[in-house]
Formats: sequence, C-alpha cells, structure tokens
Amino acid sequence: MTLPMERVPEIELMTDKVQARAYALADFSEPHEQFVRLFRETFPHWPGDGHVLDLGCGPADVSLRFAKAFPKCCIDGVDGAEAMLEWGITAIKQQNLQHRIRLWQVYLPDAEPPLAQYDGVISNSLLHHLRNPQSLWEAVIRFGKPGAPVFIMDLLRPRQRAQLDTLVKQYAADEPDILRRDFYHSLRAAYRPEEVREQLDQAGLRHFQIGIVSDRHFVIAGCRG
Ligand SMILES: C[S@@+](CC[C@H](N)C(=O)[O-])C[C@H]1O[C@@H](n2cnc3c(N)ncnc32)[C@H](O)[C@@H]1O
Repeated sequence: MTLPMERVPEIELMTDKVQARAYALADFSEPHEQFVRLFRETFPHWPGDGHVLDLGCGPADVSLRFAKAFPKCCIDGVDGAEAMLEWGITAIKQQNLQHRIRLWQVYLPDAEPPLAQYDGVISNSLLHHLRNPQSLWEAVIRFGKPGAPVFIMDLLRPRQRAQLDTLVKQYAADEPDILRRDFYHSLRAAYRPEEVREQLDQAGLRHFQIGIVSDRHFVIAGCRG
C-alpha cells in the first residue's frame, strides 16, 4: 500500500519578480471565473454591495473578475508581496477600475487592511502559502462583519504523488518552467479537506462548509458568525 502524500510547505510570499511576472501573465480564467460563479451560487441573496476584502490578492485577477460580476461593490485587495501587487495595480488601471479596487501591501497576520470590517471576505490560493493557516481564519473573524459571506478557494493536495504528476502534466505542461514548478510546489503545500476541518474547528468556524469543486480545488464557505 502506498502512503498518502505528506504536506510540504512552500515559501510564503511571492516576492520574486520573475515568478510574479509568470504568475500575472498566466491564464487563470477557468478557475477564477469558477470562483466568482460559485460565490454567487453559494450566496444567492447577497446584495453585492459594500466593501469586500480579498486576502492574498496577488495580481488582482480575482478582485477584477469579482468587481465586474458585482458592479456595486468596492474591493480592498491585500498581499504581502509588492512584486505581485505591481501587476495588479497595472491591470486595475488598464481596466479603469481604480475607483472600485484598491490594493494594499499587508502581511498577514501582522498588518491590517484599511477598514476595520468588511461586508464580504474572499481569498483564492492563499491558504496553502501561509506559515500558520490560523492567520487566514483569524483574519476572517477579525475583518468580516457579523453575517458577512466568506468564500475561500484553494488547491487540494493530491493523495498520491502519481496524481500530483498527472495534474502538473495536465494543467501546466505548456507553461513556463517557473510556473510549472510553482504549481508542483503549491499542490504539495496544499491541504486536504480533513486538515482544514480541524483548522476550522480550532478557529471556532465549525459551521463553515467544505466542498471539493474540481480535480484540484476545494472551497470553504460560510457566513461570519
Ligand atoms: C498563489 S498567489 C494567489 C494570488 C491571487 N489570490 C490569485 O488567485 O491569483 C498567493 C498570494 O498570497 C500572498 N501571500 C502569501 N502569504 C501571505 C501573507 N502572510 N500575507 C499576505 N499575503 C500573503 C503571496 O504573496 C501571493 O501573492
């Protein structure tokens, strides 16, 4: 019997300019559109206005898609890596959405976003980067208003090494080396749903739901209590 693949953490912040460029230029339209669609399906009664916090926003592709899907909201995107935020600032200007999306260099858990509390909290592909996963759940509790929708999507660690190799081949074969390497490391650093369940129990977010939504992604969602 082959043992399940252990988690191997990866570097937290994406501060390398070459890495940031490759990431910002990659096509994540499929998972990022799925992110927005699943948010809408999960919270069909959310009015779509107010201020939304995007934790670990990187080059802001998810913030941009979210802002276009919900034209009444404003978004604060936060990330600890300037190299990633630079790409986001350019993309926001190009799409003329500076009046609705603002980016801030914020390292979790030490620094804080500009508002004390938000009407919604979203995050894509941050959890597996964090040195301490509780930094994410603490941020959700601290910066989400009571009742605010919280929607987190992340990579799912494959059970076996062979599955990891298959996923890298399937989704990153034509990507630059640096991106293929990043994807490999990210899949190894990702959590399994049962590990996230323990994190949520520990954080007092037992009511949040976890669902596998593709061969490589899962979603954690709920309303801030
Ligand atoms: C894989 S990228 C995801 C970017 C974006 N959310 C997306 O889906 O395209 C992860 C981002 O989280 C940021 N990050 C990792 N640890 C962080 C921390 N402790 N505080 C703030 N940002 C962090 C990294 O710098 C990187 O930009």
